[in-house]
Amino acid sequence: MIALASDHTGIELKNEIKKMLDEMGLAWKDFGTNEAVSCDYPIYGYRAAKAVADGECDRGILICGTGVGIGIAASKVKGIRVCTCSDVYSAELSKRHNNSQILTMGARVVGVDLAKMIAKHWLTAEFEGGRHQRRVDMIAAIENGKEL
Ligand code: RB5
Repeated sequence: MIALASDHTGIELKNEIKKMLDEMGLAWKDFGTNEAVSCDYPIYGYRAAKAVADGECDRGILICGTGVGIGIAASKVKGIRVCTCSDVYSAELSKRHNNSQILTMGARVVGVDLAKMIAKHWLTAEFEGGRHQRRVDMIAAIENGKEL
């Protein structure tokens, strides 16, 4: 299950991502917003990230104007690793090396076709483990107050 969320700026792109997920045969759950009035992205970023952290959803794709604000909000949920991407390479590597659980994109930054390409690469890439697992574990240690 893919968690989806956006603020008001990201509704249209989120709907395009929904269509792409349907075509890929991947289930999704939309944590809002779906109202085209100015709203606060932390609410929706938090709800989707919490669903991923709790195991209700496997991964998440979140959208705001830049992808930055909703990404910062989502990354405050314990255990969540966010990548904010506007290129395919970073998105794919964020999965292969960083095991990112949440991809964020900016609806005012990327076009629909690029966003779909980024999301598809991110969704289909696999975490490589090995030395990358050690580094992901170190990130978790920092989060748990350990000094490196
Ligand atoms: C909304 O105007 C905008 O600030 C928001 O979508 C996002 O880009 C914040 O990071």
